[in-house]
Amino acid sequence: MTGSKTSHFLLYNYVMNTRDEALRKIRDELLVFKESPLYTYRTENHFFPVVGEGNHEAQIMFVGEAPGLNEAKTARPFCGAAGKFLDELINSIGLERAQVYITNIVKDRPPENRDPTPEEIELYAPFLDRQINIIQPRVIATLGRHSMNYIMKKFGLDLELEPISRIHGRTFAAQTSYGEITIVTLYHPAAALYNGGMRDTLKQDFQVLKKFV
Ligand code: URA
Repeated sequence: MTGSKTSHFLLYNYVMNTRDEALRKIRDELLVFKESPLYTYRTENHFFPVVGEGNHEAQIMFVGEAPGLNEAKTARPFCGAAGKFLDELINSIGLERAQVYITNIVKDRPPENRDPTPEEIELYAPFLDRQINIIQPRVIATLGRHSMNYIMKKFGLDLELEPISRIHGRTFAAQTSYGEITIVTLYHPAAALYNGGMRDTLKQDFQVLKKFV
């Protein structure tokens, strides 16, 4: 290896180790996140927090809402029926699941799959904010309205917010500390599971991600 190749290689390894470590720290903090009202429910049921999964260098980060039963049992995001459809959608733009990063705003399962409360979103959001800063994705694709509302507001796009039925499949430019990124607002894959029309819409909307692949 030439000198410049070696130093590039060392820098790359340093950045990657730092990312891995910072993400591991988030996992460790979540494991003992007793401040959460979902903590007792998690431990009583022998569930896990679902931190996130995928490429720590991903260009595209998907943000869902909160783990369901399968996810809480396995610690893996989107590993149930909605996840199967998400995998299909990711494959449809020429990517594998392992090439992107998948996470949720709320990292513990709310009982009975209810929607996360505003308090839960506020409590868990700093973990997501840190994941975004560590991974520095070029694209954040929101899955569902909770994720859309949080991410759009976080990046100062409040005025562009409309019901998801009006802005699904759209792209928005946002400024971050590491440069400009694109936010893509998508329906939640679970919404499409039993609705053929919604399934086609989501498939079509997903194609906007192709230009970032
Ligand atoms: N729904 C979500 O929003 N996230 C998951 O991880 C699974 C289902």
